[in-house]
Amino acid sequence: MSAAQYLSQGKEYIDAAICGYLPNENTFPASIHKSMLYSILAGGKRLRPVLLIAAAEAVGGNRQDILPFAVATEYIHTYTLIHDDLPALDDDDLRRGKPTNHKVFGEAIAVLAGDALLTQAFYLMTDSSLMSSIPPEKILQAAHDMTDAIGTSGMIGGQVVDIESEGKPISSETLEYIHVHKTGCLIKACIRAGAILSQSKLDQLEALSNYGGQIGLAFQIVDDILDITADQSQLGKDIGSDVDKKKATYPALYGLDKSKKKADELVEEGIACLEIFGEKADPLRDIGLFFTQRTF
Ligand code: IPE
Ligand code: IPE
Ligand code: MG
Ligand code: MG
Ligand code: MG
Repeated sequence: MSAAQYLSQGKEYIDAAICGYLPNENTFPASIHKSMLYSILAGGKRLRPVLLIAAAEAVGGNRQDILPFAVATEYIHTYTLIHDDLPALDDDDLRRGKPTNHKVFGEAIAVLAGDALLTQAFYLMTDSSLMSSIPPEKILQAAHDMTDAIGTSGMIGGQVVDIESEGKPISSETLEYIHVHKTGCLIKACIRAGAILSQSKLDQLEALSNYGGQIGLAFQIVDDILDITADQSQLGKDIGSDVDKKKATYPALYGLDKSKKKADELVEEGIACLEIFGEKADPLRDIGLFFTQRTF
């Protein structure tokens, strides 16, 4: 199966389940449920849950067993996007090809929709249906690991330094901190969760963590590049947003060519970590390559 096929089938698999764990849009109070569903259904590549599934399959797990946990990661990711776009943060108007959540529902409901998606994610990560096939201690470990990845020692930490670095000269170390934390930590935690829930061996978990660390950073470097080079209608978000906000980005510090080279090298190093899995890790290799070749 090609990378494009694995990704599009993975996206279909997640999309078929993604609303099933949320109240429908008429459930009282309807505004919040409409707002949550608006951002969830606006689209998105579903890369994080698909990575979770690909990591699980690389260690012999199966996707049905981990579905609620995989869906939870997309809720977490979508929450980070809704909050990232708020006027107090990046102040963006376009996301997944549509007006941003706060543009449609107002800031108060957008903040609460993000909070509610995050809360629902924890509900799903501890869903009792997971326990029919996964030992409870593995579920606990994966959820705990995820918490670490999205709190102040992970995603939130990265977002704080991102915001506080706007318009300032920045060191290469700080730039790497921002990108690893705001984006890399969640990507890596999704890969780790797939492995942990599928009862991976320690050396497998370590190899997948190393892969996740490398491709997670590469993903955000490419996101920075696309903010300059992409076609806005294909990307589905405002181009030039980083330059407008004087954001700390790889292209701003190193230029486009060096940034692209850095992302390619990271993915190559990430893929090199997958040797022990043989062909079972082919989807992970392909997703790694997609991370740098993508145009959206
Ligand atoms: C965008 O993530 C935000 C970053 C962390 C760079 P994606 O490019 O995965 O966004 P969607 O989910 O496809 O919309
Ligand atoms: C996003 O970084 C990181 C998170 C949402 C946690 P960006 O601010 O670069 O993402 P986009 O470009 O708005 O999607
Ligand atoms: Mg941002
Ligand atoms: Mg942003
Ligand atoms: Mg960006």
